[in-house]
Amino acid sequence: MNSRNIDHRDDTVFHFKDENKQEVADSTQVQKTRLRTSSKSLLRILNATADGILILDSSGYVVFCNKAAHKLLGKEEHELMGTMFGCPIADGHKTELQITRNGRVRTVEMHVSALDYENAAAVACLRDITKHVDLQKTLAASNAELKKLNEELVQARDEAIAQHKLKGQFVANISHEIRTPLSGILGLADILLNDCQLGEEELENVRLIQQASAQLLTIVNDILDFSKLDAGHISLQESDFMLDSLLEEVRDSVVGACAQKNLSISIVLDPKVPKQLNGDGQKIRQSLLNLAHNAVKFTPTGYVRIGAELQSTSYPNTVRVKFHVEDTGIGIEKLAQEKIFQPFVQADGSTTRFYGGTGLGLSIAKHFVELMKGRLSVDSEPGSGAKFWFELDLKYADADDRHQ
Ligand SMILES: Nc1ncnc2c1ncn2[C@@H]1O[C@H](COP(=O)(O)OP(=O)(O)OP(=O)(O)O)[C@@H](O)[C@H]1O
Ligand SMILES: [Mg+2]
Repeated sequence: MNSRNIDHRDDTVFHFKDENKQEVADSTQVQKTRLRTSSKSLLRILNATADGILILDSSGYVVFCNKAAHKLLGKEEHELMGTMFGCPIADGHKTELQITRNGRVRTVEMHVSALDYENAAAVACLRDITKHVDLQKTLAASNAELKKLNEELVQARDEAIAQHKLKGQFVANISHEIRTPLSGILGLADILLNDCQLGEEELENVRLIQQASAQLLTIVNDILDFSKLDAGHISLQESDFMLDSLLEEVRDSVVGACAQKNLSISIVLDPKVPKQLNGDGQKIRQSLLNLAHNAVKFTPTGYVRIGAELQSTSYPNTVRVKFHVEDTGIGIEKLAQEKIFQPFVQADGSTTRFYGGTGLGLSIAKHFVELMKGRLSVDSEPGSGAKFWFELDLKYADADDRHQ
C-alpha cells in the first residue's frame, strides 16, 4: 500500500516534472504565437492608419512603410523599402513636402520622431494636407477680396458722407437765402394790410399772400433747422430761463390757431418745478412748439395742454423735469408711432393732403431733445388723442431757487 503510495508519489513527481516541461514549452509557444499575433495586429493597425508611416534607419533608409505611406508617396512598397528617404533624423523635425502624384502637386506634412529600436532610428509620420492648404489659399484669397471690398466700401462711405455734407450745406444755404425775400414778402403784406386803404377783395388776397408766406417760412425754417441738425451744426446753448414764461410763449404761439378751431388751450405747471432753470431754453421752446403745433393741427375738438412736472431732484444742482403736450385729437396707430419721428414721415399717406406739412416737425423736436440727453416719446390710441413727452435733467438757475 505504502510502496504503491510511494510509486504513486514518484509517478506523480515524474508526471509533475514532465507536465512542467510541457507547460514551459507551451508557454514559449504561446508567447511566440502571441508575439506573431501582436506583430500581425500591429501591422494591421499600422496599415489601417490614414497617416503614412515610414520607419528609417540611422542613415535615412526606409526599413518599413505602411500602406498609407506608399499611397501618399505614389510608390509601391518594394520601391520604397530600402531606398534613401533622405530626411533629417532629428526628433520633432517638421516639414512640408511637395509631391507630384497623377500630375497633381500634393502637399504632405512630415513629422519625424526619433526611435531607438533595433535598426530603426526614426519614424516619419506623413499626412496629406493638400485640402487644408488649398482651403487656406482660398481663405487668404477671399480675405484679400474682403479687404479690398472693405477699402472700397470705406471710400464709398467717405464719399457719401462728403456728398451728404455738401448737400446739407446746399440745402442750408438755399433755405437761408429763401428766408430773406420771404420775410420781405411778409413785411410788405403786413404794411399793405395795416397802412394801405385796400378794398375787401384786395385785403382778402393780401391775407392769403400773408398766410401762404407764413406757411412757407415755417417750412423753410424747419428745413434749415433739419439740415443744420443733420450736419451737426447745432450745439447746446445753455443759460438761465424762466419756465413759466417759456411755456406761455409756446401757448401764445398756438392760441390763435386754437381759437380758430374752438379748442381750449392751457398750461399745466407743477408748482414743485423751480421757476428759474438753467438749460437750453431755446431748444426746449422749439421742441414744445413743434409738439404744440401738431397737437392743434391734429385735434378737431377738445383741448390742448402744455405742461411741465417735477420728476426728481438731485441735490445740489439738478432737477429732472417732464415736459408734455397733450391733446384730444385723432391719435396715432401703434405701428405709425414707431415711424413718425423719422424725417419726412407722416402717420398715413393722406395726412399731407388733409393737414399739410412736410413731416419734419417731430424729427427736429426729437433731435433737439436728444441733444439735451432726453428721449421724445408718445402715448396715444387712435381716436383718443396723443400725449408727447420728454424728460430732461436741468440745472437750478441759482442757489436761491432751490427750495421754492
Ligand atoms: N398730436 C398728434 N396727433 C396725431 N398725429 C400726430 C400728432 N403729432 C404728430 N402726428 C403724426 O406724426 C406725423 C409727423 O409729425 P411731424 O410734426 O413730423 O410732421 P407734420 O406735422 O406732418 O409736418 P410738419 O411738422 O413738417 O409741418 C404727422 O404727420 C402725424 O401723422
Ligand atoms: Mg408737425
